Amino acid sequence: MNIACAKEIKTHEYRVGLTPSNVKEYVGNGHKVFIEEGAGEAIGFLDEHYEKNGAKIVDKKELFDKAELIIKVKEPLEEEYEYFKEGQILYTYLHLAADERLTKMLLSKKISSIAYETIRLGNSLPCLAPMSMIAGRLSVFEAAKYSQKTYGGSGVLLSGIPGVQKGKVVIVGGGVVGINAAQIALGAGAEVSILDINTQRLAYIDQIFNMRVHTYYSSKANLLNLLEDADVVIGAVLIPGAKAPKVINKEDLVHMKKASILVDVAIDQGGCFGTSRATTHDEPIYELDGILHYCVANMPGCVAKTSTIALTDTTLAYGLKIANRGFKEASLSDEALLQGVNTHKGLLTYEAVSKAFNIPYTEASKALA
Ligand SMILES: NC(=O)c1ccc[n+]([C@@H]2O[C@H](COP(=O)([O-])OP(=O)(O)OC[C@H]3O[C@@H](n4cnc5c(N)ncnc54)[C@H](O)[C@@H]3O)[C@@H](O)[C@H]2O)c1
Repeated sequence: MNIACAKEIKTHEYRVGLTPSNVKEYVGNGHKVFIEEGAGEAIGFLDEHYEKNGAKIVDKKELFDKAELIIKVKEPLEEEYEYFKEGQILYTYLHLAADERLTKMLLSKKISSIAYETIRLGNSLPCLAPMSMIAGRLSVFEAAKYSQKTYGGSGVLLSGIPGVQKGKVVIVGGGVVGINAAQIALGAGAEVSILDINTQRLAYIDQIFNMRVHTYYSSKANLLNLLEDADVVIGAVLIPGAKAPKVINKEDLVHMKKASILVDVAIDQGGCFGTSRATTHDEPIYELDGILHYCVANMPGCVAKTSTIALTDTTLAYGLKIANRGFKEASLSDEALLQGVNTHKGLLTYEAVSKAFNIPYTEASKALA
């Protein structure tokens, strides 16, 4: 199969879908690999490193012309739509429930798409988890930075010092992002609370943190109580494949302290705060009703080297399966991969996306049959 790795064009997105050593694996399995020129340059993966492992370096047009399987990191942006051709396979993060235009493009061009974030192994999302770990950890570093007065924050040091109150970090959603945010926030000395709708998850969190975090059921009343005192609120909820539920609305902001910070990590799924709008690493924050909002949709992009290695460690095995067995057989033979299929031959195969845009839904196994 012709494997094509496109250069990312989102603002300050330096990750790349294949590392030079990944190329060696694909080539060793009998595939041809094309890399867009400069795709990994920003993180030290130079064109010559890819070439040394058997890839051909090409421009964007040739890349998409040759591609059977396109490997990326982020969802295609509108400037990229024109390059796609009917029947190609796209393997990348898609977050379609937050992007109707992209959904329609994939359907009209009959692209077979697999979204990293909906590949599901039992209860885990193996291709989302490494990025969630990174975003969760970064969320606290960013919050600590924007708590500084010089960055428009409230002037609170999250750790406090002996004799001075610690900063209060409230995390909504105790999944992978939430736990990783809690690890860093606790490590920084902050006082940490986590809310989740899954009480088993709360019990697990209580155990792994040895009772050092406060856990709460995620009811509106509990959240409003915590908001009053919070210095940082991290939004980390997820209903897989669906638009994020809004846990805080505009009218709730009056309960918060001035210059406290909302970090909406779930912004890639549409955001879990009613006042969130996606921002970029160029201008990551904005202020609304006296509250700072940090809503960068590709947080791991700023630690692109760590993120690329972590991501490709999990995407490689599924990518090889698609290349070796073909899209249909690979997806039908692997339940985790089948759940990653979002579109095929003009059919929408992910139920939560069909509900978001009122587009008819076809089960992936039926669309592939
Ligand atoms: N912005 C970025 O750069 C970036 C990077 C990685 C992940 N993410 C996003 O972060 C979000 C969280 O990802 P994750 O991997 O931690 O997911 P996860 O599935 O591991 O955890 C989500 C948690 O949210 C909980 N939840 C659902 N609804 C809730 C509610 N109303 N109140 C409280 N908790 C609720 C679930 O029970 C679950 O424990 C996702 O939207 C993901 O796409 C964003």
